[in-house]
Amino acid sequence: MDIKKEIRRLLKEKDAVLLAHNYQIDDIQEIADFTGDSLGLSIEASKVKNKTIVFCGVHFMAETAYILSPDKKVLLPEIDAGCPMADMVTAEGLREMKKKYPGVPVVCYVNSSAEVKAESDICCTSANAVNVVKSLDTDKVIFVPDKNLGHYVSRFVDKEIILWEGYCPIHNRVTKKEILELKEKYPDAIFVAHPECPPEVVDLADHVCSTSGVYKYVKESDNKRFIIGTEEGVGYRLKKENPDKEFIFAYKGFQCKNMKKTTLKKIYDALIKEQYVITVDEVIREKALKSIKRMLDIPR
Ligand code: 13P
Ligand code: SF4
Repeated sequence: MDIKKEIRRLLKEKDAVLLAHNYQIDDIQEIADFTGDSLGLSIEASKVKNKTIVFCGVHFMAETAYILSPDKKVLLPEIDAGCPMADMVTAEGLREMKKKYPGVPVVCYVNSSAEVKAESDICCTSANAVNVVKSLDTDKVIFVPDKNLGHYVSRFVDKEIILWEGYCPIHNRVTKKEILELKEKYPDAIFVAHPECPPEVVDLADHVCSTSGVYKYVKESDNKRFIIGTEEGVGYRLKKENPDKEFIFAYKGFQCKNMKKTTLKKIYDALIKEQYVITVDEVIREKALKSIKRMLDIPR
């Protein structure tokens, strides 16, 4: 059986759409209806007309899709695909922090659970975090869970950002030394980093952006060589769109294990067995929706 063709056939038969994050394996990106960063996928999930959304990404992304489209069946093909950073903050922990800073608004990176979103005032993604924080008319902001993204935002705003001690183990692993060595080896290369990288790595970047931001930047650049400071999954589209350009990843094995758990076989099984259905308690969903909608109203 040609599994890719069979998946496409089942998608049609079941009136389902396949959404995939930019870190998914090449084979999945190839057959997806839409690939994108967290913001792009959220926008897409809010507009979907199909009965079912098959979400190839990690748990919080499928949850966000359900929060935006509760009338759809949202399937996550791999139930164990989580985000370790999202797990670094709980609703309980956030409530404790809010008690320490009464009246200070909470900005919550979408890499978080529905419960944490429900405890927050507004969400953000890596693509709009600066604009989201700027939109708040307070001089202090609580930012959860990514301390690196929060630190990146603090470079552009005249506000005190109270950080949570969370981070992405995959991006936080990039070191200044590695980048300096690569820059020395490839002096003509432009370094593009994701804001989840540590501040001393971001300091060395020529451009900082979300996963989809990398595509735009590279396409528009006349440069031929790039050091890429984000997960290897972006290589699929980068190579496809820029066959004459070279991409060197910040370290060998720059991979999110959770993003790589989804396979074609698991998508096939998800469609046949209609698994794993992602839902959110309605009270939590409504509160979380407010934070997400408030974010989507902010210009990118
Ligand atoms: P993007 O929003 O840039 O796609 O990032 C999501 C993510 O999980 C990065 O590690
Ligand atoms: Fe989470 Fe990091 Fe994986 Fe993104 S790359 S899903 S932040 S663990």
